[in-house]
Amino acid sequence: MWKTPASIAALTIVLMLPSSGVAQEAPANQKSLAEQLVDAFNAVFGAHPGMRANHPKGVVLEGTFTPSSSAASVSKAAHLKKQKKPIPVTVRFSAGSGLPTVPDTNEMPRGMAVKFSLPDGTKTDLVVLSYNGFPVATAEEFRDFLLAIAASGPDAPKPTAIEKFLSAHPAAKTFVETPKPPPASYATLPYFGINAFKFTNSKGGTTLARYQLQPLAGAQYLTKEQASAKGPDFLTDEIRDRVRRGPVKFKLLAQVAEPEDKIDDPTIAWPDTRKKIELGTISITKAVADSQAAEKKLLFVPGALTSGIEAADPMIAARSAAYIVSLSRRAQGQ
Ligand code: HEM
Repeated sequence: MWKTPASIAALTIVLMLPSSGVAQEAPANQKSLAEQLVDAFNAVFGAHPGMRANHPKGVVLEGTFTPSSSAASVSKAAHLKKQKKPIPVTVRFSAGSGLPTVPDTNEMPRGMAVKFSLPDGTKTDLVVLSYNGFPVATAEEFRDFLLAIAASGPDAPKPTAIEKFLSAHPAAKTFVETPKPPPASYATLPYFGINAFKFTNSKGGTTLARYQLQPLAGAQYLTKEQASAKGPDFLTDEIRDRVRRGPVKFKLLAQVAEPEDKIDDPTIAWPDTRKKIELGTISITKAVADSQAAEKKLLFVPGALTSGIEAADPMIAARSAAYIVSLSRRAQGQ
C-alpha cells in the first residue's frame, strides 16, 4: 500500500531508477532479497515502528552545493555543470546503528545522506559512510552477516554464528576489529561512497569512481576520556550549534579507479594514491526546524541518480531496493 507522501516519493524513485537500479521481484510465496535484508536488520536491532531499519537516529540540515570547474569534465549530471546559483541540498547525518536511541559516543561508522534539488525540479541522492570499505562484498553476504550477528546472543553455543562468519570473511573481521572512535562532530569526519559509480561527461567520456567527502574542518576524533564526558546526543546538539556559527563545508571528490581496481567489491578500499577529482563543495548552513518530522518524509536512495551518473557496483541496486522496503514499512508505522 503506497499511501503517504513519503511512500509516493519512493514509488516515483522506483519508476525513475534505471533498469539496473532495483533488484528483481521475488515470486509471491518468497520474500525478496530487499525484504530479507530489512528483516535481518530487525533481527539484530528489533523493529522500531515508523523508524528506518538502519540509521534511525539522525539530524536533518539544509545547505547548498557548488560544483568545481573540473566537475563537468567527469559528468554531464545537472548539478555538476556550471550553475547560475548554488544547488539546494538537504543533508541527514546519522548514527551508525539500527537502534534509535544509540548513544552518540558509540564506535560505529556514521552516515551522511545528501539530496540535491536539481534545476529541473528532479532530485538525486548521495548516501555515504565514515568508513572506507564495507564488511562484505554482496548484499546476500550482508544479509548473512546480519543474521549471524542476530543468532549470536550471549547464550549462543560456541563457536557462535558470527565467530564462524568472521573466520570465513576476513574483510568483515577487519571491519569489526578496526577502531572507529567517535568524532568530535559530524562535521569532522571524512565520508566514503564505498560503492563505485560510472560517470559520463557531455562528450561521452566515462570515469569509474567512488565518492569521498573531505571535511574542511579536518578529521577530528575523541579519545575514550573525552567521549566519556559527552552526553548521548552530543553529535546532534553539536552540529545544530555549529551551523548557527557558520557553514559546515565538505569537498566532494571522485576517487578514480585504475584498471586493476575492483568495481564490484566494496570490501576493498582503493589505494589512497588514486587520482581524486574535485567535484564541488557542500556547504551546510542551517538545521531544519523539526528534524523528526523532516526525516520521516525523507528517503535517500543510493540508486536515485540523474543522467550522467550510473550504478557500477551491483550492491547499489540491492541497497536501493532495501531502502525502499524500509521506507514503505516505516511509512505504514511498521
Ligand atoms: C547491502 C548493503 C546495504 C543494505 C542492505 C543497506 C540497508 C539500509 C537500509 C534498509 C536503510 C534505511 C533506509 C530508510 O529507511 O530510509 C539504510 C540507511 C542508510 N545506509 Fe545503508 N545499506 C547497505 C549499505 C550501505 C552502504 C555501503 C552505505 C554507505 C556507503 C550505507 C549508508 C547508509 C546511510 C548513510 C543510511 C541512512 C540514510 C538516511 O539518512 O536516510 N549503507 N541502509
